[in-house]
Amino acid sequence: MKPSIDLSKLYKPHPQQVKAHLASEKTILFGGAIRGGKTIWMVAEGIQLSIDYPGNVGILCRQDMPSFKRTVLVELEKYQDIGIEINGHWQPLIIQHHQTDHTFTIYTGKGKPPSTIWYTGLGDDTRGLASKMGMTLGWFGIDQVEETAEVHFNNLMGRLSLNVPNIRYKALLTANPMPGWVKMRFIESHPDDFIYIPSLPRDNPYLPEGYEEELRKIYPDELVRAWLEGNWDVMEGGNFLFPYAQIRAAVNRELEVKDSDVKWCGIDISREGDDQSVFILRQGSKVIYTDAWGKTDLMESTGIILQKIERFGLDAKNVNLDAVALGAGIYDRLREQKVYVNGIIAGGEPMDKEHYVNSRAEMYDNLRKRFEAGAISIPDDQDLIAQLSSIRFKIASDKKLQIVSKEDMKRTYHLKSPDKADSLALAFYEPEIKNPQIRWL
Ligand SMILES: Nc1ncnc2c1ncn2[C@@H]1O[C@H](COP(=O)(O)OP(=O)(O)OP(=O)(O)O)[C@@H](O)[C@H]1O
Ligand SMILES: [Mg+2]
Repeated sequence: MKPSIDLSKLYKPHPQQVKAHLASEKTILFGGAIRGGKTIWMVAEGIQLSIDYPGNVGILCRQDMPSFKRTVLVELEKYQDIGIEINGHWQPLIIQHHQTDHTFTIYTGKGKPPSTIWYTGLGDDTRGLASKMGMTLGWFGIDQVEETAEVHFNNLMGRLSLNVPNIRYKALLTANPMPGWVKMRFIESHPDDFIYIPSLPRDNPYLPEGYEEELRKIYPDELVRAWLEGNWDVMEGGNFLFPYAQIRAAVNRELEVKDSDVKWCGIDISREGDDQSVFILRQGSKVIYTDAWGKTDLMESTGIILQKIERFGLDAKNVNLDAVALGAGIYDRLREQKVYVNGIIAGGEPMDKEHYVNSRAEMYDNLRKRFEAGAISIPDDQDLIAQLSSIRFKIASDKKLQIVSKEDMKRTYHLKSPDKADSLALAFYEPEIKNPQIRWL
């Protein structure tokens, strides 16, 4: 007999989640949108499989460990309060969470072997875990599988051979709709013993009121159609510079910052009424401070910037200031005070004239490379994430990279000015020093 542990206090599946729990197919791809209740479903299904087949061994994972901890592990840990009363003795569902081994041991009933749930970041440590696990599994779950390489899925599929009576092997996947291998392999080719069950934010009754409307206000139309409506095709021609998975992976990425790592800052100055001026400071590859302020006059903005340069002990040669319009005035004021920051003109000449139309394209492409290489850590700032995911590129007729201008983003795409994304690009730009104090060297 199965232990009758009541999980409903923690989780009552909504109709799409129920469908995914009942699906008899071996491989289940659930979601295809944001906030549809994917992660919580995957964890619940993993727990259920552990209870249903005593002695089961499964693994829950995601591309990297820090994002796994923030999302999947948090859901899994909620089961620590669940248990069953047996003859006046409290039997917790989770017998043990071994944090160094990355395992949970799950109670499956009196006299029954416990089940095990392993967890890992796939990008971090595949070999170490594989050798520890002895290679055989009854199920696995990959959260946001589109962030991972297909080889991880293939490897885990190849391990579904655990010898437990009557076991049904399961591969649980969640994803956002993105071009890539997940779309090609599952959405376009309908493989055998596979089912895709969409779950949109509107299928999830547990989201706060007005959640969708909020997102519609800040994200570009294509992204909204992909994330809110689960449309797998719209992103194809979107020409977005930063893949969303890479932005997500960079949020609170654990990167070591040494005292000797140089501090750089980027300052984007507001142009029009509702824009903001934004100051972003990084040390090495990690953003360590962000501030934004509304429209101020030249003297006031200069004062704010000077105060920050002093507070953080910045070397003026590591300060990249957007020196257009009001920014040009601030640049001059700072120079009068012998603070020789780098005045960056977004439309100006890039260092690499062969590949970029202007400095803005060069700055953004440098930033893109950092995201691609995993060499950047950004704060969990909804505006910054939205702005980065809305930056588009074009290839000019001479094959140079061009970034859609702020003005076009506002006028053509009706988006807010990407002030935070711009100051991030400025903060990570390392221009050739052309300051007056070294001109005579
Ligand atoms: N059946 C449920 N019972 C209680 N809460 C739920 C349920 N399904 C979803 N939620 C809540 O809805 C929110 C979104 O769920 P979840 O984080 O699992 O979605 P997701 O699709 O993984 O989101 P993301 O796209 O951010 O990864 C969470 O706050 C979660 O607790
Ligand atoms: Mg999730």
